[in-house]
Amino acid sequence: MWEMMNDQWSNPVTVDEMYGDWDWDAAIAAVDRSLDPRPSSSIIDMFGALGPGPSDVVLDIGGRDAQHGLELADRFGCRVLSVDPAEANIADGKAAISEHECGHLVEAVHGFIEEIPADDGAFDFVFSRDMFAHVADANRALAECVRVLAPNGLMLFHQVFATDLLEPIEAGQVFGHTAAVPERFSVGGFEGAVEEAGFRIENVDVLGSEWYEASQEAGTAPNYLLQVSRLRRNKEALLEEIGEVAYRVVYGNALWSINQILGKLESRVYTLRRV
Ligand SMILES: C[S@@+](CC[C@H](N)C(=O)[O-])C[C@H]1O[C@@H](n2cnc3c(N)ncnc32)[C@H](O)[C@@H]1O
Repeated sequence: MWEMMNDQWSNPVTVDEMYGDWDWDAAIAAVDRSLDPRPSSSIIDMFGALGPGPSDVVLDIGGRDAQHGLELADRFGCRVLSVDPAEANIADGKAAISEHECGHLVEAVHGFIEEIPADDGAFDFVFSRDMFAHVADANRALAECVRVLAPNGLMLFHQVFATDLLEPIEAGQVFGHTAAVPERFSVGGFEGAVEEAGFRIENVDVLGSEWYEASQEAGTAPNYLLQVSRLRRNKEALLEEIGEVAYRVVYGNALWSINQILGKLESRVYTLRRV
C-alpha cells in the first residue's frame, strides 16, 4: 500500500510524530523561502549562451505568433523564420511583426516541423519551445530539423516530459485535453530519437517546475487549482458558455500546469548539435 505514497518513504508518519515536538511556523518559514527560480524568459538567455549574432539565421519552429522570434531578433540581431501550422497564429504574427521595430528581421510563415519550408542547411540555429508534444512522427520531425540546420548548427529544444509520478489516468486527462501525443513525453524515447536523427546531446537542463515557481512568486500565474475547481463544479454552465473545445483546453492547460508543480511532468531544455 505504501508504495503508493510515490515518494522516498514507505512508512507512514505516525500520530505521535505528526503532533510531536516540531515547529510548524519554522517549517513553513523554511518552505516559504524562495529558491530564486528562473522565469520562463530565461530560455532567451539560454539561447543567448549559444552565441547567436547578427549574421545568424534562426528557425523558431512552432513559433505561434512570432513573439519569441521578435524577442530573439531584438536581443541578438539575428534573422528569424517563425513557422507555425495555425493560420490564426500566422495572421497574429504578421500583425506583430509589422508593428515591431525589429520586424524587418522576422518572417512568419505557415508550415509544419514534419515538412519545414526551408532549404537544406538554411539555419544556424533552431529554437523549439513547448511544441514537440503535438508531433505525431518524432523521427520525421527531428530529421527535418537536422536537414535545415547547417553542419554543426545548434538546436535549443524545450519540452515537457512525464516523470515516474504521473499515473495513467492523469496522463490520459492531460494529454487528451491538450492535443498532445503520449509517446512524446518519454525522456528515453526522445533522447534515442534525437541521436538517431543525427544530433548529439550537448546539454540537458532539467527545469522541473522552476518556471511555475517563478510565475507564482511574481504573481503573474493564473490560479490553476482554482480554475480546476470551478471547471469541475460549474461544468455544464461553462460548457454552455464557452463551448466544449475551450472548456477542455482550459482544463487540460490547468492540469498540465498543476502536474508540473506536483513533479509529475517536468520541463527540460536540451542543447542539440547537428553532427
Ligand atoms: C504551446 S504552443 C507554443 C508556442 C510557442 N513556441 C511558445 O513557446 O509560446 C505550441 C505551438 O506548436 C504549434 N504546432 C502544433 N503542431 C505543430 C507542428 N506539427 N509543426 C509545427 N508547429 C506545430 C502550434 O500551432 C502552437 O503554436
